[in-house]
Amino acid sequence: MWVLGIDTSCDDTGVGLVEDGRVAVNLVASQVALHQAFGGVVPELASREHLKVIRPLAERALAEAGIGPQDLSLVAATRGPGLIGALLVGYAFAKGLAWALGRPFYAIHHLEAHIAAAWPEGLEPPFLALVASGGHTHLFEVQALGRYRLLGATRDDAAGEAFDKVARLLGLGFPGGPEIERLAREAGEAIPFPLPLKGQEGYDFSFSGLKTRALQLVEKGLPAPALARGFQEAAILHLAEVVLRAAEDTGHRVLLVAGGVAANQALQERFRQAGLQVHFPPRGLSQDNGAMVALAAWRRYRAGLPPSPLGLGATAYWPLEEA
Ligand code: KG4
Ligand code: ZN
Repeated sequence: MWVLGIDTSCDDTGVGLVEDGRVAVNLVASQVALHQAFGGVVPELASREHLKVIRPLAERALAEAGIGPQDLSLVAATRGPGLIGALLVGYAFAKGLAWALGRPFYAIHHLEAHIAAAWPEGLEPPFLALVASGGHTHLFEVQALGRYRLLGATRDDAAGEAFDKVARLLGLGFPGGPEIERLAREAGEAIPFPLPLKGQEGYDFSFSGLKTRALQLVEKGLPAPALARGFQEAAILHLAEVVLRAAEDTGHRVLLVAGGVAANQALQERFRQAGLQVHFPPRGLSQDNGAMVALAAWRRYRAGLPPSPLGLGATAYWPLEEA
């Protein structure tokens, strides 16, 4: 059974094909070069580029899988949250395709898709899921597919956003996460950073203090590798401290870590040492992509959750608890 998944929530056009729950093709057309000159994602440019790329990318995905549109059993797209103009391109394309083919359509929550990417076959909820990306740092209790309880979230920057901003301070490229990680490996030692939200009772995150500290250290002219390593260690330690405390308090022993930041190797090592059963997305599935959307739709279909009405619109704002 073939499922097509599309994600155009931000600046990457993602088209993925999943066959019986296994990722067969996962194509991502990056817009990094397009937005680079502006120092951030320009929403209108992102929508126009999605519009140009979506159809040829979908055709290429089908060709690589060796199937035609008629072979698709389900069509899915990210409905939100994200940049509304960007979302609409992939969402309307997928709905049109589902309608033309007469196939069920699944409107997928972007964070459910990130979670689906890290969710191994056979693992039954409940468990904890941390989604750390450029736009989100959210900790959920996953009670079932489609039933989520928010335990905590960032009060300011998302984790990936902080990596991007510190990378920029250091004159590194975008996205900043992989650049910081690479530079941190060159460091002999780490410059210590203070841990955010020490002593808090809840499970929130904060990254703006680390960013400010990085700026002060850059202005003092301290060496970039040691600074990158110090920032990375503090960001990871903060994520781990909050999540492990939540695991302790709630009694959960299983944790998924998803989103772009989950690709960080130092982060993976830290969480693997935590004494929990931890799962990360396979390579290529942590950053935004279409296959994770197809995986979420496939899980929903298999669990007997109904497809979405074609009259349902895309939405920039959509809490996961309401998905
Ligand atoms: O999930 P994603 O592709 O997009 C959003 O939904 O935001 O995440 C992108 C974010 C960027 O901020 C990027 O810097 C970060 O994930 N990222 C990393 C790494 N690879 C990507 N952060 C830390 N370490 C990495 N290796
Ligand atoms: Zn994402």
